[in-house]
Amino acid sequence: MTEPLILTEIHGDGARRTALIRINRPKQLNALNDALMVEMGQALIAFDRDDGIGCIVITGNDKAFAAGADIAAMAEYDYMHVHQTEYITRNWETILQVRKPVIAAVAGFALGGGCELAMMCDFIIAADNARFGQPEIKLGVIPGAGGTQRLPRAVGKAKTMDLVLTGRMMDVQEAERSGLVSRIVPLDKLLEEALAAGAAICGFSGPSLALAKSCVNKAFEGSLHEGIDHERRIFHSLFATEDQKEGMAAFLAKRAPAFRQR
Ligand code: CAA
Repeated sequence: MTEPLILTEIHGDGARRTALIRINRPKQLNALNDALMVEMGQALIAFDRDDGIGCIVITGNDKAFAAGADIAAMAEYDYMHVHQTEYITRNWETILQVRKPVIAAVAGFALGGGCELAMMCDFIIAADNARFGQPEIKLGVIPGAGGTQRLPRAVGKAKTMDLVLTGRMMDVQEAERSGLVSRIVPLDKLLEEALAAGAAICGFSGPSLALAKSCVNKAFEGSLHEGIDHERRIFHSLFATEDQKEGMAAFLAKRAPAFRQR
């Protein structure tokens, strides 16, 4: 029997819980192939539609989050194949459609497409053994799942050029210092910490979370003026929700809010 390419679990005990997706190709250091990305995309969309889920965590194992796109599969591809099948575009970016928060919990290698997948998540919590890089140059190609665009937005031009042009890896301290990683935790606490962040997120208002995420993402897509204008309109629109009334009333009454997700 073949092993499933991803494993899913549900964590927490509230009305909204955290879905965990584990990448499961340990023998290949979780190298990402088309079939895996299709399965992950289907799981992400199903969790996004499920009212009982408030947050999604994507993780690998202790040795690798993902060591990149599957080189054994790619070695056979030619130009017409990747062009005609829209390699990457066709099924690797489903995660960008997800409106709920998605956290990457990274231990070990996050290289090439693995680093790019982590960057497509909303933020990265990393274990103290995590290592990041875009080593595609060593294979005669370049990053192909957004690395040349998302990495400079996270760590700036100098470090991106260093990583992309030399193919070197950076350790987790360097990754955190340069803004790629939001927090570093001991390896044996990685999932606990990511699921605790998930549980905190699950306690908040779903509509506010989705709009907060869309506003932050907007900061990377246009001018400052457009971004601020977008944020202001979204901020105003949240005054139409019951959760805004509840959140503010609860604060004034010095009690915990009971968000109703609308
Ligand atoms: N694709 C396919 N198989 C991979 C893989 C990948 N990206 N990375 C590792 N593996 C496989 C190895 O071939 C090896 O398989 P065998 O046991 O059958 O030989 C197994 O995983 C274990 O790997 P190593 O023996 O190499 O482990 P190591 O600890 O010595 O080295 C490593 C670890 C430095 C991560 C090394 O495996 C490596 O350099 N991997 C490739 C990293 C890479 O180049 N990633 C970018 C891919 S291109 C890309 O991602 C394009 C894009 O932008 C979309």
